[in-house]
Amino acid sequence: MQYRNLGNTGFSVSVLGLGTVKFGRNTGVKYPQGFELPSDSQMDHLLALAQDLGINLIDTAPAYGISEQRLGRSKAFKRQDWVLVSKAGENYQAGQSNYAFDRHSIIASVEKSLRDLQTDYLDVLLVHSDGRDEAIIQEDEVFDTMAYLKQQGKIRAMGFSGKTVSGAQLALSQAEVLMLMYHPQDQSHAEVLKRAEAQNCGILIKKAFNSGHLDQFALKDPVSAVLQFILKQACVSSIVTGTINPAHLKSNALAISG
Ligand SMILES: NC(=O)c1ccc[n+]([C@@H]2O[C@H](COP(=O)([O-])OP(=O)(O)OC[C@H]3O[C@@H](n4cnc5c(N)ncnc54)[C@H](OP(=O)(O)O)[C@@H]3O)[C@@H](O)[C@H]2O)c1
Repeated sequence: MQYRNLGNTGFSVSVLGLGTVKFGRNTGVKYPQGFELPSDSQMDHLLALAQDLGINLIDTAPAYGISEQRLGRSKAFKRQDWVLVSKAGENYQAGQSNYAFDRHSIIASVEKSLRDLQTDYLDVLLVHSDGRDEAIIQEDEVFDTMAYLKQQGKIRAMGFSGKTVSGAQLALSQAEVLMLMYHPQDQSHAEVLKRAEAQNCGILIKKAFNSGHLDQFALKDPVSAVLQFILKQACVSSIVTGTINPAHLKSNALAISG
């Protein structure tokens, strides 16, 4: 496994991260096939395998159904071994997403994440945008709220997971970490990556495999080609791929090293 600095945060993270949507949510998602949530023992096996492969970054969110609760309860989730990334702003309950970005809601969301994950702090907190990136940054004072949480020791670093290039550009002035989409078919954030590199902002990549729609890449070995393409960007710290299939996790780690 290779490791890279997560911008200026002081964290060294594996270039392959583990996304956990599929640990806790199988409704209202855009994967090509339906799926059952992994059992506790399957999830524990994935966590142990990820660690064996050298993966040290895990990404979760209140929006991922019961992902945080399950991680918190799992004996295989050794908190201290992970750079733990979570989010605030979106909540998913009874099959529906609710969004709230005001100070009170963000703080309450982090308090709940800490309880669910059975930890005292998050390593990285990202705003989980609903797509209104610029409005959230300008009107909801999310960075002020995250600075307060950082001061309180509840989070170590703050950032933004948005949907638009203009939102990412705006977030760059305050974010220590950005989570964004970037792959051979969507390079719309290329300018953002250049600016992020110049100011040493950590970059996490989401949906590298187009949420599992690998056939849409029309590439011979899409897993390897996509991962290698993204890794050419020196400012990318970690590619957070989501999988509940141990064989896929292994082949992703192998593709990274090749
Ligand atoms: N707004 C946000 O902040 C946001 C949004 C989306 C995602 N994320 C984060 O980014 C992570 C990744 O995004 P994502 O899960 O949407 O999409 P993704 O990583 O692009 O794709 C995941 C899908 O690809 C499949 N897959 C993984 N490795 C594979 C392989 N080697 N061969 C074939 N298929 C493979 C997985 O199926 P199997 O389970 O069968 O392997 C899964 O269905 C999420 O888990 C989450 O942590 C954040």
